[in-house]
Order: sequence, then structure tokens, then C-alpha cells
Amino acid sequence: MQTLATIGELRAALDPLRYEGRAIGLVPTMGALHHGHMALVDRSRAANGATVVSIFVNPTQFGPNEDFATYPRDLDRDLELCQAHGVDFVFAPGLPEMYPEPMDTFVEVASLSGVLVGAQRPGHFRGVATVVSKLLHIAEPERAYFGEKDFQQLAVIRRMVRDLSMRVEIVGVPTVREPDGLAASSRNVRLSPEARAAAPAIGRALDEAEARFRAGERSAAELVELVRSRIAAAAPLEPVAVDFCSSRTLEPLETIGSEPAVILVSVRAEKVLLIDQRELISS
Ligand code: PAJ
Repeated sequence: MQTLATIGELRAALDPLRYEGRAIGLVPTMGALHHGHMALVDRSRAANGATVVSIFVNPTQFGPNEDFATYPRDLDRDLELCQAHGVDFVFAPGLPEMYPEPMDTFVEVASLSGVLVGAQRPGHFRGVATVVSKLLHIAEPERAYFGEKDFQQLAVIRRMVRDLSMRVEIVGVPTVREPDGLAASSRNVRLSPEARAAAPAIGRALDEAEARFRAGERSAAELVELVRSRIAAAAPLEPVAVDFCSSRTLEPLETIGSEPAVILVSVRAEKVLLIDQRELISS
């Protein structure tokens, strides 16, 4: 495994592989890696001749009052995990390498970025789309891997790639959970013991909504209320938003018809914001 800190070094390492015809898989991350990230790595390794993991805590996707400064960072541990999972290259640039001067060019997926999480975090998805676009230009992968946990992020990136005719296949990977159902997240380490104990209520609320849906419930309002009330009952969790939308367009739905729908949840657990999601597909 090679760890590279500059764009030039990464390109110099990847170009020969490309000429040999080896497909490159890219897994963009912000580090503090866990088994959720590693599911993306394993998928990439299974389908590509070389796997690149990028580790970069991207300041432009954090709002002024968000947790950029306190976002967990542990490069040594991240490198060990990558090594253990057979990663070929880790790209871990410093801030001046990615942003040598203030950015003047941005990628904005207009309608998908202003709703849901984007409405609570203005500018967040512009920062994500711009940095992911940079990473795709730097590594020029055949395939890039993203988690369904960050459902809106995946939708934004798929749309960006379609709109800009980028030559990359975006692969979505199902959410990896802890044994008690909590979605694995780098932010989980910052939960207090009380919040950590309460957090599995999110997954259970989504299980219950899915069971109601399977039993015939088709009203979005009923399912949203069910999820909201179950989360609100699990102090110190506080539901920030529970939305029911089309999986493809993220437009709000009132009833579930034949098109795939998704429940998107964001929850405040004291200082930590947790997100989760569940797709409901009529069989
Ligand atoms: P980060 O939060 O580090 O996540 C990196 C990737 O891992 C994302 O695609 C995310 O959806 C995926 N992931 C995280 N937890 C997961 C889980 N429990 N199951 C499955 N996949 C999971 O998302 C970002 O970083 C950044 O916004 C980034 C795309 C790197 C741009 O800066």
C-alpha cells in the first residue's frame, strides 16, 4: 500500500496502471474509518484492479457552526485499516494541496442541494459536490463508491455525474450497521453513553415503519409520525427532520405508489447529528 499526499504523486502512481488496463476504484472518505467505509473498500476491491481511498476532511462542506474542528481524525489507525483491507493507494492530501487558493469555481446540483439535509446545512452539498468532482478529476476512476446512509449525498453525486457527463460509474452501497442497528458513523464515537444507549431507537423506528408499510400502510404522514414519535420518546434523541420522499428525485411524497420511496431521518443526539434512511419498495 502506498500513501500519497500530492495530486502529482497520485497521478504518477495511477497512470501506469490505467495504461495496463487495470480499472481504478475510488472510495472518497473523510477518515475516522470504520466498517461502514470498509464495505465500500471491499466492493471496490472485488470489481477493480486497484483501489484508492481518499482521506480528506473537507472544510467547504462544514458550516461555520458545525464540527469541522472537532471532526474525529486518526490517520495512523485509518492507514492500518486500509492496509488490512488490501487498499492499494491512500490519497491523504493536506489542505493547501486541495485548496492552494480560495476556490472560485463550484459545482452545485441546484434542486437536490437545497432540500432536506441541504435546507438545514446551507452550502453543504455544494462543498460535497465540488470536492467529489475534484477527487474524480484527480483519480479518474472507472468506479466510485458511496454509502446509501448518506442518501441525499448519493443522489446529488449521481445527478452531478449525469448532468456533467462525467465518465465514472457511481456505485451505491447499503448501510452497514452496528449489531444493535445503529448505522455505523465516524461521529458515533462522540456520543455520550446515554445518547449511544438511546441511538438504536432510530433503526428500530425505521424497522417499525417498514413493517407497517409491508402490512399495507401507504400514508406518508402516518409513517412519518410513527418514526418521529418513536425517536422523540428515546431521550436524549430529538428528531430534527423526518421526510418521506421519492428515492430518485427526493421530492416529498404523500402516499406511496409504485415508485421507490425513502424515509430520511436526521436526529440530534446532544451535540451530534445522526442520519439514517430506509427505502420502501412496493413488491
Ligand atoms: P464520510 O462521512 O467519511 O463517508 C465516506 C463514505 O462512506 C460515504 O460515501 C458514506 O456514505 C459512506 N459511509 C459512511 N458510513 C457508512 C455506513 N454505515 N454504511 C455504508 N456506507 C457508509 O461522506 C463523506 O465522508 C464526505 O461527504 C465525502 C463524500 C468524502 C466528501 O467529502
